[in-house]
Parts: sequence; C-alpha cells; structure tokens
Amino acid sequence: MKFTKCSGLQGELTIPGDKSVSHRSVMFGAIAKGTTEIHHFLQGADCLSTIACFRSMGVNIENNGDTVLVHGNGLHGLKQPEAVLDCGNSGTTTRLISGILSAQDFPVTLTGDASIQKRPMKRIIDPLSQMGAQIRSLRDNGCAPLAITGSPLHGIHYQSPVASAQVKSAILLAGLYADGETRVTEPYVSRNHSELMLSCFGADVHTEDTTAIIRPADELFGQKVLVPGDISSAAFFLAAGLMIPDSEILIRNVGINPTRDGMIHVCRAMGADLTLMNVKEDGEPTADILVRSSTLHGTTIGGAIIPTLIDELPMIAAMACFAEGETVIRDAAELKVKESNRIEVMVRNLTAMGADVEETEDGMIIRGGRPLHGAVIDSRLDHRIAMTFAVTGCCAEGETEILGAECVNISYPGFYEELGRLMK
Ligand code: S3P
Repeated sequence: MKFTKCSGLQGELTIPGDKSVSHRSVMFGAIAKGTTEIHHFLQGADCLSTIACFRSMGVNIENNGDTVLVHGNGLHGLKQPEAVLDCGNSGTTTRLISGILSAQDFPVTLTGDASIQKRPMKRIIDPLSQMGAQIRSLRDNGCAPLAITGSPLHGIHYQSPVASAQVKSAILLAGLYADGETRVTEPYVSRNHSELMLSCFGADVHTEDTTAIIRPADELFGQKVLVPGDISSAAFFLAAGLMIPDSEILIRNVGINPTRDGMIHVCRAMGADLTLMNVKEDGEPTADILVRSSTLHGTTIGGAIIPTLIDELPMIAAMACFAEGETVIRDAAELKVKESNRIEVMVRNLTAMGADVEETEDGMIIRGGRPLHGAVIDSRLDHRIAMTFAVTGCCAEGETEILGAECVNISYPGFYEELGRLMK
C-alpha cells in the first residue's frame, strides 16, 4: 500500500464500532441468560476471534453484519471446546476469556498468532492464580499457549502494578464466580467498559477511586448493546484532519467515554481546532467531532492520562512531528508490550522518514517542525502502526510504502478506502 502527499481531506465518515465494547458484548452475552442484541458491532478480525471462541464453547451467535445476536448459555453453560481456542491477534480475547475459563468445570488450552504468543500473560496468571485458578503457561515463559483448568475461586483484593483494563476485566470476570467480593486497584483508572456493561447485565459492580469492586453473581441477563464508534479508530482521522492542510471533516458517532478520551485533550493542548457536536450522554457517551487543519505545538503527555489514550500514542507521536517544538511522552512503557513494541517501531519508522525522535525508557521525545519524506515502513503486522503511517505518508514528501498493510483488518476493515474517499 502506497501513499503520497495529499492536498486535503473533506467530507463525513462514520467510525466502526468500538473494539473493546464489541468484545465485551459477545463475552458477557455468552455467559448471560437470554439474548444479547448488539448493534454496530465491529467486524474486525479481533472481535471475530472472540465470536469463534464462544461458538466453539457451544454458544449460538448469529452474526448478521452490523447486528449480532448472542444467545447466551448462562454463567455455567459453556461447553468444553473440541480444539485449542484460537484468540488470533487479540490480547483482549486472550486475557478476558482467561478470567471466565478459570471458573468453568472443564480444562481448555488457548493460544493465538505469533504476536499473541509473545505478549505477557503473567499479569493475568498471577492474580487469577491468587484467586485459586489453575492456569499455566505451557512453554513456561509467561506467554500463551495457556492451559486452564476451571476450579473454585476466591475473592481477592488485587493491587495491579499496571493500569490495564484487560487485567482488571479478567479479574472482575473471575470475580463473578468467586466465593466473595473481588477488588482490583490500579495505579490509574483504565477504561471502564467492563464495569459499565457488567452493571447493565445485572452484576453487582461499582468503583471507588481507582478500585473496581465486584460481587459474585447468580445470573447475568442478556441486553441490547449499542456499540459506540471506536475513538481509537477515529484517532487516525482526527490526526489526519489536523495534520493535512486544507482539511475539514466531520467524524460521526465517536465514543467519548472519559476513560478513553485522552486523545481529544491532547489534540486541544496542542492547539487543535476540534468541535464536539451532538453529544449523547446515555450509556457509553458519543459525539460527532468536527476537525479542521490546525497549526499544532508540542506538549507533555504522562501520568493518569496515559491509559486514556494508550492506543492513540503512535498516532500522537507522528502528529507531534508536525507540531512546533518538543513533545514528551512519558509513563508509557506499556507501549512496549502491545501488538508490537510501539516505542521501538515508532522511533525506527519516524526516523526513517526524517523525524527528530528519541526513544526513552518509558516513551519518546519528538522535536517537531522538520519536514518528513516518504519511506518504506514495516508495520510489523501491527494494525495501529500501519494506520499511523498511512496518515503520516499523506503529509510527507515523496512516496511512503506500508508493508503488511492488510493488518488494519484487525480493528478497521475498510480504513484505506475511507481515507481515499475523503481525499480531495
Ligand atoms: C483493551 C485495553 C488496553 C488496550 C487494548 C484494548 C481492552 O490494553 O491497549 O487495545 O479492551 O481492555 P491493556 O489492558 O493491556 O492496557
């Protein structure tokens, strides 16, 4: 896939469903009683992995495209799968499903692609084991494949060393099956989609500061779920609209949950011209966002805001190359354990395009204002890296070629077509 400098973006687009919310709606629907009706479900490869896993555990799931019907088996109705569960490229599937599987009355093995088999699973093995789960890394390296044998679980109070919604959610899901209350305290609040949705499904869950608290459940009840547009997907168009001169685009139906909206705050801190319109506060809040090309300046990003924009940091780093002055990203060591090492990959690829960017222990320092030129970009099959450099290629002199470009199907099928459609 090749990109050259673009002379502006114009028009409107609707953002596909949120990946985190889509995964959870299938998982919670599968262990609820009755039917869960999911609208604007993300048909990305990651969410399809979640559907496939639950189908292989006997859950009837009708995937009609935009709408998905999950006919739940109840908390104790999953069946032992005949084969190894394949979580594909999806960390959310692997970690959240482990919380559920820890409490079932059958053994199961789960794994995923080459990237998943390198991602840290000790962060869920430790707390789930403390709850009484039997969960083992088959290669003894703290990664998948994982062998899980369901067992009776105890409530715990877990102090998580990382702000991670996947860790928190795995523990909360196991907590549904525990013999008492389960608490997870994080250094900073991570995305709270599990807490919000589990509560709608009838679970007794609440939060106190950075602690999520759940009590065991007898039953969950299927719900109608309206999936908001994914702000992590919208981020590429937000950045493109700001970075590409003579652009004005309206991005419709973007989820603006405060535990996810850090990108909007950072864009504004950098001087962006963004207007939120048609804000809806019901359930997961959404807005339409009008974005116009802007003169940007550098900023510092660290601390509590990091979990609210963790997946947007590659795009923010590239955007900082087009801002005046220095941008510092810190407290973001988690970037190293995503679908790729996103600090290393960003620094390498931005440097190849002529940027002044420096790798640090827990982030990057970007000195903006240098013009970028095209380069060959190895996406490392990381969907967010591919999309980041598609947008960056539209702002650079010469040609940018993205290797492994098809990986965008993980979270945003149709991304390149949408970008092309908006070009003047
Ligand atoms: C996710 C949580 C985040 C995020 C990932 C999706 C989720 O990961 O990066 O894309 O759906 O819970 P961590 O929990 O590892 O921070």
